[in-house]
Amino acid sequence: MTKVELQHLSKQFGEVTAVSQVSLNAPDGQITALLGPSGCGKTTILKTIAGLLAPSAGDVLFNGRSVLNIPAEKRNAVMVFQNHLLFPYLSVGENVGFGQKMRGVDAATIRQKVDEHLALVQLPGLANRRPNELSGGQQQRVALARALIVEPTVLLLDEPLSNLDAHLREEMRQLIRTLQRSLNMTTIVVTHDQEEAVLLADQIGLMFDGKLAQVGPPSDFYERPSTRQVASFFGATNFLAGEKCGNLVETAVGPLHVAANAVPDGPVQLTIRPEHVQLAPADGRLPNQLCATVQEAIYAGTHTRLRLTLDGDIELTLITAPAAAKTIGVGTAVHLHLPPEHLWPLP
Ligand SMILES: Nc1ncnc2c1ncn2[C@@H]1O[C@H](COP(=O)(O)OP(=O)(O)OP(=O)(O)O)[C@@H](O)[C@H]1O
Ligand SMILES: [Mg+2]
Repeated sequence: MTKVELQHLSKQFGEVTAVSQVSLNAPDGQITALLGPSGCGKTTILKTIAGLLAPSAGDVLFNGRSVLNIPAEKRNAVMVFQNHLLFPYLSVGENVGFGQKMRGVDAATIRQKVDEHLALVQLPGLANRRPNELSGGQQQRVALARALIVEPTVLLLDEPLSNLDAHLREEMRQLIRTLQRSLNMTTIVVTHDQEEAVLLADQIGLMFDGKLAQVGPPSDFYERPSTRQVASFFGATNFLAGEKCGNLVETAVGPLHVAANAVPDGPVQLTIRPEHVQLAPADGRLPNQLCATVQEAIYAGTHTRLRLTLDGDIELTLITAPAAAKTIGVGTAVHLHLPPEHLWPLP
């Protein structure tokens, strides 16, 4: 079991600040996702944990001890790269067993371990193929087997699902979760895809421009985003500008009840996710009832997305049942309910 801790980690490449003051705990035996747009420093952090890069400042700790003076091969942390880098002229078996051979492990033991690990990633019997005789998904799994064969306590995966189609992504995701649980490795996964991070990770660290913007369980990023940028990264959402007046927040669409305790005094941005805006009867029984006009109804198979306008040219988006697309046309007047518990004040 290994707990990984980053303390004020920074990395400078000449003029470029790739990582700036990142502090993060990756609890042992859990999956942490490092999420963020291209170029925000994710791979740099992973390489620093693996020992392939030295930080410019800050520290990397395993179980409370700095590993900066421990070389990569002794950290018991392995990294699977974004472009999985298999040796093209070696067979699958030789690729998986390569590190073992370098360490002088005998041939029979290597063969047995290779077979075991190919079975683990659900590729039994493919040891004699060449990488170019495998699909992209299979190559990805060979790269995973090559990492697992050294029995790491920390597994570092850089965009493990990025080259796969939707069906294979789901399979690979399941495989990573199953392996992570059964082998109990602390796993850090890098991805630029928020849905991927939510489906895979116990904890997410979201980064922009080399800095950590928010850390927490996936639901926090939907329910309690720390900034407008964080909220927007998790899909198109609604924002309402307002000002706190007593127990209410005065907005362009009228006074709203907000359940969160910590509404700051003065101007405030409220956010509410499209899936939390509800269509409601106009009976005045619920708080935060509003009238709106439908501008667009987009059928998306599993749901319908309604684009609405309210008084004062305010726009809101709402997600509702797929059948609504058939009954609610452009120009329809609807009544909305904004549940106070889902109106989140951005600090
Ligand atoms: N060896 C290097 N020399 C100079 N600049 C580098 C080097 N490696 C990375 N960078 C820069 O550091 C920043 C962070 O790069 P990094 O590879 O960590 O991003 P990333 O979040 O993994 O992006 P992506 O999602 O595209 O893989 C980028 O601006 C990149 O150009
Ligand atoms: Mg990268």
